Amino acid sequence: MSLPKAELHLHIEGTLEPELAFALAERNEVQLPYDGTEDLRRAYLFTDLQSFLDLYYELMAVLRTAHDFTELAEAYLARAKAQGVRHAEIFFDPQAHTARGVPIGTVIEGLAHALDRSEERHGISTQLIMCFLRDRSAESAMATLDAAKPYLHHITGVGLDSAEVGHPPATFREVYAAAESLGLRKVAHAGEEGPPAYVWEALDVLGVERVDHGLRSMEDPQLVARLARDQVPLTLCPLSNVRLRVVDTLEDHPLRSMMDAGLLVTVNSDDPAYFGGYVGDTFHAVREALGLGNEQLRELARNSFRASFLDHDERRRERYLAAVESYDFDADPRT
Ligand code: ADE
Ligand code: ZN
Repeated sequence: MSLPKAELHLHIEGTLEPELAFALAERNEVQLPYDGTEDLRRAYLFTDLQSFLDLYYELMAVLRTAHDFTELAEAYLARAKAQGVRHAEIFFDPQAHTARGVPIGTVIEGLAHALDRSEERHGISTQLIMCFLRDRSAESAMATLDAAKPYLHHITGVGLDSAEVGHPPATFREVYAAAESLGLRKVAHAGEEGPPAYVWEALDVLGVERVDHGLRSMEDPQLVARLARDQVPLTLCPLSNVRLRVVDTLEDHPLRSMMDAGLLVTVNSDDPAYFGGYVGDTFHAVREALGLGNEQLRELARNSFRASFLDHDERRRERYLAAVESYDFDADPRT
């Protein structure tokens, strides 16, 4: 057993391991410009967010059928189970697929097929969060929300991702208002590479309930005070931040100072196939690099359930929180 936790910041397309990418490429007769999995892995040397996104979008070419999306999600859930994940709120990027001619229904129904069986197969409850690509237009985001309407029973919320700098949250004011009126929850990436002003906008213009990353909030003491006062959850992804050069090393990561500042932070994996670890690995890495004790790890696990969109299911949330409280690090030190 591992420390029970929720994963709240996970791009399903970012779980595409090289082995599955090549298997799907062969099945779908897609030519990848890499000479096998090791050659592909050698390309995972990123200089910033954009250098990662270029490869991330390129590899998506292998995902074509509903079954491909089912297999992708199924592979993630099996790995997540081994890492102590009890609940996962999973991002997907529909525009990255519809732009290649894959219908949104194929994507959503393919993912939902795996997620619907997740509880029974893996003991993991799941939710799906549909992200808009912020480096595309607000009109394209609105068209995506429209196209998703027949599938909203599968979708809990909306998010905002892709290249951040130069693409402020406020551009998406109307689509977030429309999503809210459809009863969808709201999150957005902000303060990963972009400035604290983007975090303010995500809160005050889009009305998000959670901020994905939010790391650069630490540059603005008033923003830190606001986030602490309102206990706005921040979904941090420390291994991602190192690989995308947002921080120099894991030892430099502000996770600990963010906890000390009273922020409600969670630890997540972002795009684990690319960044060197799934969420349990990430807990382990921050424990080693930042010298976190068992009670701080327990706090992070507790936060992950508190920050989740399980508030409609208090009994389930209480059950997960009880499992965190009773986790015995001496009997099993795995994170
Ligand atoms: N899409 C996938 N991973 C992302 C990240 N870390 N930031 C922004 N967009 C993303
Ligand atoms: Zn992300």
